[in-house]
Amino acid sequence: MKAAIRYQYGPPQELSIREVPQPQPKANEILVRVYATTVNRTDCAVLTGWPLAIRAFTGFRKPKLPIPGTDFAGQVEGVGQGVKDFKIGDRVWGFNDNGLESHAQYLCIATSGNVLKMPENASYEVAAASAEAAHYAINFINKLKVTPGQKVLVNGGTGAIGSASIQILHDLGVQVTAVCGTKNVERIQAFGVEKVIDFEKEDFTQQGESYDYVFDAVGKSTFFKCKRLLKPGGIYISSELGPWWQNLYLPLLTRIFGSKKVVFPIPFNIKASLEYMKKLIEAGQFKPLIDRTYPLEKISEAFEYVGSGQKIGNVIIDLAD
Ligand SMILES: NC(=O)c1ccc[n+]([C@@H]2O[C@H](COP(=O)([O-])OP(=O)(O)OC[C@H]3O[C@@H](n4cnc5c(N)ncnc54)[C@H](OP(=O)(O)O)[C@@H]3O)[C@@H](O)[C@H]2O)c1
Repeated sequence: MKAAIRYQYGPPQELSIREVPQPQPKANEILVRVYATTVNRTDCAVLTGWPLAIRAFTGFRKPKLPIPGTDFAGQVEGVGQGVKDFKIGDRVWGFNDNGLESHAQYLCIATSGNVLKMPENASYEVAAASAEAAHYAINFINKLKVTPGQKVLVNGGTGAIGSASIQILHDLGVQVTAVCGTKNVERIQAFGVEKVIDFEKEDFTQQGESYDYVFDAVGKSTFFKCKRLLKPGGIYISSELGPWWQNLYLPLLTRIFGSKKVVFPIPFNIKASLEYMKKLIEAGQFKPLIDRTYPLEKISEAFEYVGSGQKIGNVIIDLAD
């Protein structure tokens, strides 16, 4: 089978496309023919081994898994001994933030792992693009006590996590204000948000509105810049550690001092996120933002683009051929 492969941490140029032996499913594993996968920000961290903390999971000196890729959508082509819940021909999707070797035509995954039958109405591209960022968005939202009618500002509405958050919050009946650049205002308006702020024309931290929660989905702002936007008791939550890793210790400090809080979630329970997203997609309440699609041969270019921080939602690797 064809796979993207590398044996050490490094830039996208370390990747080459090679013929490697197809994996064989062991007991309680399924063999999946991958039709779509993404290159996402988690993949960039797994590829480069940066931030260093990720190496505690992916291997200290060199990557444990030579083939990158954290998510997939595809079809079951083989089952190991003892597999009961899946059969050949099932359309399946999955995600694991430590790597699944999904940047390849085939992978094996344990049925107890983060794999589900795909949403009935989803294409392989849509399923692949509804896993990684949606999982983080769900974990961030789960840290808040979101109720219908509350007001939330999402900074970075065009990012994969931001665009997923907007749609999940909208489905929960929240009034969402999203921040994005000029060229994407209409695209983000289409998600049914209350208001879009164009950060190229206006500093969103200087407006008169106040919010129950500010979600910095691209981690480009800080608690101190956003504090004035929060109602008393309001919460700032970011996808990034912030300057001097402040989002790690501000949750402790703001628990003691002041009425406005910082929360920094550690994402967990990927399978629950996939189940949540499956229901949302089947109910027609979620359409992932998809930017570019690359063939496997151009995966280094896809990594370069994702690493630039300029992608709009998700970048797909099409493995259908
Ligand atoms: N905490 C976690 O567990 C976790 C997990 C995964 C990822 N992350 C982090 O979460 C962040 C978001 O990931 P992602 O995949 O959603 O990002 P992404 O898709 O790469 O975000 C790119 C988007 O951000 C927008 N953007 C860039 N600068 C902006 C700014 N100053 N204000 C508003 N929007 C801006 C860009 O829009 P324009 O083109 O309009 O500028 C672009 O559309 C990344 O920093 C990633 O490292 C955290």
